[in-house]
Amino acid sequence: MKAFEPAVGFDDLDQESKYLVHKAKEATAHSYAPYSKFHVGAALILQDGTVVTGANQENASYPLCMCAERVALYAMVSQHPDKRIMKMAIVAHKKNHKELVPAASCGACRQVMAEFEDRQKKPFEVVMMVEDNKWVKCSSAAVLLPFVFTKDNLELPNKK
Ligand code: THU
Repeated sequence: MKAFEPAVGFDDLDQESKYLVHKAKEATAHSYAPYSKFHVGAALILQDGTVVTGANQENASYPLCMCAERVALYAMVSQHPDKRIMKMAIVAHKKNHKELVPAASCGACRQVMAEFEDRQKKPFEVVMMVEDNKWVKCSSAAVLLPFVFTKDNLELPNKK
């Protein structure tokens, strides 16, 4: 699989991606976004078919808001620490709750996604809407964050 599949309309996504997008959409029901009114849902499918979802959770103290992706990832690893993530879908809608709007994961979530790939030592696919009804499937979280900061950066350099 290429780093990024060419963007396609929803109907042209593969079955599993459509299913996961549907689950992410369902998860937006539990978004708490009274400030931004931007409701985000994320869904993860694990190696055994288990689906774990998350929705963004805002706070009157704005910097404490938590993105849907990280809610889903941290919930997943707390409940299924030994299972592997195969794919993640992210969706968003605005106040009217009608149609989905583009939502490309923020940089902080990409950083966390990259660490999860590192932990499971295998990539997982990421599906998201990048423009109106244009869905992109990425082969891994790593491709979303070139020159990523990882635990390797924390190691002391070898003295020559
Ligand atoms: N948000 C997410 O949940 N995921 C992202 O990747 C981008 C932004 C949320 C955070 C906040 O609750 C709202 O969207 C507006 O930024």
